[in-house]
Amino acid sequence: MTSRNQNLTKQKIFISCCFVVPTFVLLLRIFYKDYKIKIPQVQNNPNEELLSLPHEEVFDREKSIFFIEGFGKNYIPARMLCSIESAALVHNNTFIDVLMTSRTLQKSVQIRSLLKAYSNVRFLYLNATTLYMESPMSEWFLKETWKNSKYPEMNFVDPLRYLLLFKYGGIYLDMDIIVLKNLKMLENFAGLESDSWVNCAVMGFRKGHPFLNDCIKEMTQHFDSELWGVNGPKLITKIFRRRCHAQPPDTTLKNCSDVRLFKREVFYPISWTKLDKFFEEDQEFTNTLLNDPNILTLHFWNHNTQSRIIPVDGQNLYSVIVRHLCPITAASSNYIF
Ligand SMILES: *[C@@H]1O[C@H](CO)[C@@H](O)[C@H](O)[C@H]1NC(C)=O
Ligand SMILES: *[C@@H]1O[C@H](CO)[C@@H](O)[C@H](O)[C@H]1NC(C)=O
Ligand SMILES: *[C@@H]1O[C@H](CO)[C@@H](O)[C@H](O)[C@H]1NC(C)=O
Repeated sequence: MTSRNQNLTKQKIFISCCFVVPTFVLLLRIFYKDYKIKIPQVQNNPNEELLSLPHEEVFDREKSIFFIEGFGKNYIPARMLCSIESAALVHNNTFIDVLMTSRTLQKSVQIRSLLKAYSNVRFLYLNATTLYMESPMSEWFLKETWKNSKYPEMNFVDPLRYLLLFKYGGIYLDMDIIVLKNLKMLENFAGLESDSWVNCAVMGFRKGHPFLNDCIKEMTQHFDSELWGVNGPKLITKIFRRRCHAQPPDTTLKNCSDVRLFKREVFYPISWTKLDKFFEEDQEFTNTLLNDPNILTLHFWNHNTQSRIIPVDGQNLYSVIVRHLCPITAASSNYIF
């Protein structure tokens, strides 16, 4: 290289360093604000999906089966997914809708596996405000008594099942119900939780059913803001008693003319037997539960076991049932719930 050429290169480097780069930086600074505004900040979280608002026709048919996540959480843990999977497995030609008040859903490994294995599972956004505002509870909702009550979250969430059943009809399930048998032939029903309490964890009604209308009226007119679970089993039990003319001291609850009340073992609350029984090996008991045609679901009462990590790879009753009815969720959770 000649010295002339070397000088030229040095000149170029000098010009670049002293003029081009600073000018570029200056321009960038001037336009940086605009630049930032013009390009929207894309939430690039591959694990989170924006849920879609369902069209009206999604529900506009009798007998949809649905779950509600009403606390605004954007994830669903394995035990709850197990409930959803069991419903999807048993009703393989019905949509199983998980209605979430969160706008987004965290796509965990378990959820991805579930969606891949079952084309009938849908996670949908539920705009609870719209549901309330378009219902006979709009005034109650606007007054915000629920917000100032002792259990605001629960009192916001509990009425949603009645409002959805009233508006669209179908079968509602709590996320601690494991479905053993097909429920679709049942109409206008609930089940007993004990001799004197009706359960609201499994209910099916045609849309606009007068029983639901009574429940909704009761919630708006006699809302006790201090009482725990005021719109849970207490509500449905009260309405049953009233409609079936069961008066204390007669505590036996019976079928009403237009609502069928199933005996306690049909939806099988775990209080029916000792909780520990579910974590013991008992082949005979397991077979009885799985094969008895009268037992349609098991109601596990997750809150009784939520602090417990449960391995589901053993031969105890819970493990066997879980592997049988939610095999995908069990496997994708490495057999630990
Ligand atoms: C749906 O379930 C029925 C009865 O359980 C079964 O016979 C059928 O093969 C299942 N269909 C699919 C597509 O899995
Ligand atoms: C939910 O509905 C309310 C009222 O109908 C509306 O103001 C709000 O924007 C909706 N939320 C979403 C996330 O769509
Ligand atoms: C309601 O009626 C059905 C069918 O007649 C019966 O199987 C069921 O046990 C009755 N429920 C109660 C709580 O008596």
